[in-house]
Amino acid sequence: MEFEQVLRKRRMVREFDVNKQVPEKIIRKLLRNAHRAPSAGHTQVQEFVIVKNPKIKKKLREVAVDQEYVEEAPTLIVVCSNTSRSEKRYGRRGREFYSIIDGAFASMLILLTAVNERIGAGFVGAFEDDKVSEILKLPQYVKPIGIITLGYPKESEPDERFERIPIDDLIHYERW
Ligand SMILES: Cc1cc2nc3c(=O)[nH]c(=O)nc-3n(C[C@H](O)[C@H](O)[C@H](O)COP(=O)(O)O)c2cc1C
Repeated sequence: MEFEQVLRKRRMVREFDVNKQVPEKIIRKLLRNAHRAPSAGHTQVQEFVIVKNPKIKKKLREVAVDQEYVEEAPTLIVVCSNTSRSEKRYGRRGREFYSIIDGAFASMLILLTAVNERIGAGFVGAFEDDKVSEILKLPQYVKPIGIITLGYPKESEPDERFERIPIDDLIHYERW
């Protein structure tokens, strides 16, 4: 797909065909592209937990303000940042700031790759960090950044777009 088309087509998908699994080959491709993400000082903090087990998905839904697509999506990629590597290099700024940006960049690559692979994807950031960590047995220095829901979009889902604030209201030249 053309790059511009990928950007234009990207939107959060929240309804999935629960009977159609995402092929392993595509999951690997999403991960390979996420692995190309930049990271502060090349600390490569991004790590990924793949979840398909219905029981674990149900638990994640419960700690993600009961968002049903967390359970319904056939596959989840939980993008994490291994803050030990950012902290070692950059101290507090690494742990509290760079590690989150690094995880967000990797997440965006997954979202864009999903469009290119005709897979529906959503980014879920509303969750209780400590509970997600407990469910996934994340070490204390690993921070969950986002739960990416993946699957084939339900046919019935309307291809609606959210209105955006006019771009000229958001651009400032030379100073705010
Ligand atoms: C940091 C962050 C957290 C988000 N958390 C959630 C979430 O918990 N649940 C959800 O349905 N969408 C979530 N979203 C998706 C946004 O709601 C969505 O990107 C926005 O409404 C614009 O829609 P679009 O991405 O389809 O263009 C999140 C997006 C970001 C960037």
